[in-house]
Amino acid sequence: MSQPTLDIVILAAGKGTRMNSDLPKVLHPLAGKPLVSHVIASAHEMGADRICVVYGFGGDAVPKTLADEKLTFVLQAEQLGTGHAVQQALPHLEKDGVTLVLYGDVPLTRVDTLKPLIAAAQSGNLGLLTVLLQDPTGYGRIVRAHGRVVRIVEHKDATEAERDIREVNTGILAAPTGKLIDWLGRLKNHNVQGEYYLTDIIAMAVADGIEVLASHPGEDWEVLGVNSKTQLAGLERTYQHNAARELLDSGVTLIDPARIDVRGELLCGRDVSIDVGCIFEGRVEIGDNVNIGPYCVLKDVRVSSGVKIDAFSHLVGTEIGDDSRIGPFSRTRPGTRLERDVHVGNFVEVKNSVVKAGAKMNHLSYIGDADVGAKSNIGAGTITCNYDGANKHKTVIGENAFIGSNTALVAPVSVGDSATIGAGSVVVKDAPAGELTVSRAKQLTVPGWKRPVKKKREE
Ligand code: UD1
Ligand code: CA
Repeated sequence: MSQPTLDIVILAAGKGTRMNSDLPKVLHPLAGKPLVSHVIASAHEMGADRICVVYGFGGDAVPKTLADEKLTFVLQAEQLGTGHAVQQALPHLEKDGVTLVLYGDVPLTRVDTLKPLIAAAQSGNLGLLTVLLQDPTGYGRIVRAHGRVVRIVEHKDATEAERDIREVNTGILAAPTGKLIDWLGRLKNHNVQGEYYLTDIIAMAVADGIEVLASHPGEDWEVLGVNSKTQLAGLERTYQHNAARELLDSGVTLIDPARIDVRGELLCGRDVSIDVGCIFEGRVEIGDNVNIGPYCVLKDVRVSSGVKIDAFSHLVGTEIGDDSRIGPFSRTRPGTRLERDVHVGNFVEVKNSVVKAGAKMNHLSYIGDADVGAKSNIGAGTITCNYDGANKHKTVIGENAFIGSNTALVAPVSVGDSATIGAGSVVVKDAPAGELTVSRAKQLTVPGWKRPVKKKREE
């Protein structure tokens, strides 16, 4: 028999008053992407057939931000409680399947923690994720009788005795969808907050003879939600601590695991060393024997083996070939492809250019929309003038060319193989292969010339 349909409902309608922000809470970034996107990623990993995001606060900011993901958006115009929120998604759910409820502001729950809940629902029971807390204040308490979960009572509705219970509801649960539809249809808002509580379905399940199977997360941070910037910062640290730990376990040297930020995917080969203060964004792939100096930012970069990147380099949308040397203080922008053994030095910016093997540009240059031939040397201060104020133009430099310092290459223009350009030239026409081209004014000496002297003030 095939697995029943798995629908996942993500509650994301809340405002998050304590964030003190106009951005809906679930869109605040954790490790570089919206909180709710972490939850959506877990939902995909679980193999959800359908993912319903219940949104509300902030107009269509949530659906707009998440536009490129395969999701069903459901508007909860008024936030009348967690039960009411799940109700909004019911028309989209497959009633013969099972439904898992997650929260857009609880980003770090691991898939292995959610699996037992799904299994419980698939076997016709209700799976509930609970946790034991030192201080359960504010949470819904898990009321048990003879060891079995019988209901949940919200903190505000609880008696003194119930408030002593330390097992609390994380909010995350899974149930057979047909049952869920029935229970939610019968919810009342007769409680202190006048809300439709999702938690009231627990007692209904028990009354229907359905067993409530409580399971627990491996780590407490898996069920932590974000209600304030302090909690967001705390979960960011947890995330980064975990990311650093994974890198260390895989053999990467981190000079200080507390001082690295991974905001995306970082894949490292063997014997990679990363100094402090580096930030990795998007997808970064690093080969073997790569050394990254302090305070570098790499976003969507592929680094081959044996590369050394020195301090304070900012690299985006770039491929770097074997054994290349980058930095300190280098900047490469999208569309940059450096082949093997290329040197890009301090205060050099490269954009949308292919630099062939062995070429060097060590100081103070801008190379944009260019092809640089193998083994060419780009002197200090060389600039490709790629922009005429309206359009971008290309510069082509052949193999083994030597561009003198402080040359302006006014594109479109080409420099032939083994050509030499004299320092300080402004090159507006193609420079032929093998020849010296100089375009600066000839040096001249004026014999007997005297410096002006300061005029005496008249009396
Ligand atoms: C809820 C649980 C409580 C549990 C706690 C864990 C209920 C009634 N109570 O309480 O047992 O211990 O979570 O954190 O479920 N939301 C909507 N629409 C609504 C109401 C809420 O989308 O109408 C979303 C919120 O944005 C939030 C989540 O659901 O992400 C939880 O809502 P919240 O009001 O924070 O529930 P709690 O009172 O904390
Ligand atoms: Ca809450």
